[in-house]
This record gives sequence, C-alpha cells and structure tokens, in this order.
Amino acid sequence: MEFRRVADILKNGQPQESVIIKGWVRTKRELKGFAFAEVNDGSSLAGLQIVLDSSLEQYESTLKKINTGSSIEVAGQLVASQGKGQKIELQVSKVTVYGEANPETYPLQKKRHSFEFLREINHLRAKTNTIGAVFRVRNACAKAIHEFFQNKGFLWIHSPIITTSDCEGAGEMFTVTNFDLDKLPKNEEGKVDYSQDFFGKPAFLTVSGQLQAEVMAMAFQNVYTFGPTFRAENSNTSRHLSEFWMIEPEMAFCDLEGDQNLAEEFLKYIFQYVLDHCPEDLEFFNKWIDKTILGNIDNIINHEFERVTYTKAIALLEKASKKFDFPVEWGIDLQSEHERYLAEELFQKPVIVTNYPKDIKAFYMRLDEGEKTVSAMDVLAPGIGEIIGGSQREERLDVLERRMQETNVETDNLWWYLDLRRYGTVPHAGFGLGFERLVQFITGMKNIRDVIPFPRTPDNAEF
Ligand code: 4AD
Ligand code: MG
Repeated sequence: MEFRRVADILKNGQPQESVIIKGWVRTKRELKGFAFAEVNDGSSLAGLQIVLDSSLEQYESTLKKINTGSSIEVAGQLVASQGKGQKIELQVSKVTVYGEANPETYPLQKKRHSFEFLREINHLRAKTNTIGAVFRVRNACAKAIHEFFQNKGFLWIHSPIITTSDCEGAGEMFTVTNFDLDKLPKNEEGKVDYSQDFFGKPAFLTVSGQLQAEVMAMAFQNVYTFGPTFRAENSNTSRHLSEFWMIEPEMAFCDLEGDQNLAEEFLKYIFQYVLDHCPEDLEFFNKWIDKTILGNIDNIINHEFERVTYTKAIALLEKASKKFDFPVEWGIDLQSEHERYLAEELFQKPVIVTNYPKDIKAFYMRLDEGEKTVSAMDVLAPGIGEIIGGSQREERLDVLERRMQETNVETDNLWWYLDLRRYGTVPHAGFGLGFERLVQFITGMKNIRDVIPFPRTPDNAEF
C-alpha cells in the first residue's frame, strides 16, 4: 500500500489501486449499512470521499470517533464513484483515528464562518476552504517569484532584519533593544544612552531591505530580496500590516523605464503562474469571494499596463466628475480613493504613476531635471491601490548629500551608502512589491489579515 496525497489521487488515481491517506475529516454522513466521510489533507481544495462499510470491524466505534476535525489514517482501495461531484472514492479497509475532535466544542462546524470569527481562531482557520486556498495560492506566488528572478539570473540576497538605518525615513520603526526598560541608562543630557545598548546605538526592525540590496546590486548587477519587513505605522486598514513580506529587486545600469518594464513583466509572470498551477483555488475565489477575479487575471496578463506621470494623473483627477473626500491638487500624496479611481474606474487596469513631487517621496529617489519631481514609480492595482513602490535611485554623490540634508536624513549613519556613490557608482533602479497585497490582488480577499498566516496589526500579535 502506498501513501498518497489527496491532490494526487484526485488527479491521477485509478480504480483498484491500494492507497493510504492521512488527513482530517471535514464531513461525515451515515446511511443505512455504510457511511461517507470527506477527508482533506491540505493538498487541494477538494477532499477525498471515503466509504466505510458496516461489515468493517469496529465500524460503530470508529464512526463515533470520526467527527468533523478529527485526524485519521485510512487504508483501502480506490473505486469509481457512483455519486456526483467526484470521479473516485476510497473503499476503506482500515482506519486509524489519531485524534478526535469533540463536536460539542470544535469551533469549525460545517457552515460558513465570518472572516472576523476565523481570525479569533487563527490556529484553526487554515483548515477551512477559503483560508486553505489562500495559503496554497500564497505558496504558488512565492514559487513564481523565485522562478522569475532565478530564470533571469538575479541573485537572492538575504537582507538583514535588524538594522540601524531608516530606509524610508518615515520614522515608523520598531526598536530592538535588550535594555531593562524600567532602568534605562541615561547620558549627561538626561537622554537614553544607547552606547550601552546591545548594538552600541539605536537599532530597529527593518522597514525595507532596499539599501542593502543596492549594496549587492553594485557587485552582482541584478539582485532581489524576499523577506519580512516591519512598520510601526498606526494604520488599521484592510491593506496595512505591522509585519509583512516584501520582494525588492534592484538593478544596476537600469533607469525608471527599465524599472517599470520589469515590474509589469514580473506581475504578469506571477499571475500566469498561479493561473496555471492553482486553477481549482482560483475558481473557488471567483465563485465565492469575488466574481471578477478570473476576468481580472486575464485582463492583467493580456493587456499593457497604463503609464502616466503624476502630473498627468493629477490633471485627470481634477477633470474627474467624481467628488473626492481629499481635495486634489498638484503636490498632494495620492490617497487610496484617488489611486482606486485611476485603476478601477478610469483605466480599469493596473496603472504605473511616475515622477512624483520630491517632497512626498524618500531621499534616495533620483531628482528629475527641473528639481520638482523624482524618478519614482508606483503601480496601482484595481481593488487594492498601491501594490508596488519603486524608483530610479540617486547615483550622484553631491545631489544625494543635498537631498539627505533637505529631508533631515543623517549622513553619518549612512556613510557606507554614500560610499557606493564614491566608488563605481552607476544609474540603478528597483522597487518593492508588498507580498500580501499581491495575494489579495490575486485572490480577491478583502482584508490583508486573511492572506498572511499570522497577522500582526496594532493591538494584535496573538498566536
Ligand atoms: O512603497 P514602499 O514603502 O517602498 C519601499 O519600501 C521601497 N524601499 C521599495 C523599493 O524601492 N525597494 O513599500 C513597498 C510596498 C508597497 O507598495 C506596498 O505594496 C507594501 O510594500 N507595503 C505594505 N504592505 C502591507 N502593510 C504595510 N504596512 C505596507 N507598507 C508598504
Ligand atoms: Mg509607497
């Protein structure tokens, strides 16, 4: 007898094959003389139907134990199914029950639960159809991302999680310390003396691996990071997490146009990959979560993204008949309502907005001619808003130093970053894709908390 995963059996299983499966019972139905149960092992949305005949030894005692949620190992023979909904089922010859699940107390009964409720039982929610499908798609996205970059010869860089610099200059960092917080050492000015802290200066969880990716791009040309990043921003929205994963490619000898081209090719590749590898899960999302998902995916793969400058986008927003809560004028940071109007209503596809005003963007972005804007780009997606943020980087030492002064970024701490401009500097560009926003985009899931296994948000780090 061969141990097999359910996904493999549903796809390749033939009548008369003897197999063993291991998994969790989703449902059970008792009829006269026999019983059905559906067993799911996480390998696919659909479970395998097993048939227990009353001639089985311990039929009664086993049936009592296998309720929704219990874990079992089943051996038997595959047979063509008479029922509808499945081609094949498993005629059981032996059952081992590993762990029971008391139907009186097991929280996941066979009915639809709200996502809010499922977040309260986060440790069990991966056992549900929707969340299970989300994590299979999430995994496929990760595979697609590595495949895309590896095929192109990009080196995967492991950027540090602990850092002493604030890449985005937004001051949204979590402090890392081993001080006894009740007995903070003070210096002569009465301020906390960080020279006595673990790293000898203030240290934080990283908000982005970009600066380190730039270091590596100056040696390997094309690199990418794929790791966790952290933001202590107090935004309780459906698209912000305090801990999220980011993918940050960085390319030497590349400008803003090359950066946009890579972003577009990249997103298309991931969508095609998920379409090819998770058709059953996508059908499920299209049916139960958002009926436009399959159409959107097709739209993304087969159409060019729109590209507009920030200045043009502002003009389009000013012309719009729609009333915005936040007034539109050149210089504002685009709000979610503006981003969504552009991507959802006006262009009805992803839009790349470029050349934002320098005052609303980070210090490292390359200053454009005229010095009012920088070579930034954001990719705005229908239903999500900003999914990618990137730029061509400032490679000129004097301009970079000036920009750091203007934006109050300490140059002392970033001496090594400036050194990259002293020794062998080249035009270079990159971007950051928010991994959870990508998964939201593909699955149609409304809340970002439901596309990461263990969401961390303000006031919430349970599980
Ligand atoms: O636009 P951001 O802040 O850009 C950077 O961090 C650059 N250093 C990237 C680069 O050029 N290498 O963040 C990039 C992306 C956003 O577009 C968004 O998708 C995601 O990261 N993101 C978040 N996702 C979830 N929760 C949050 N709090 C996020 N903040 C940003
Ligand atoms: Mg951004």
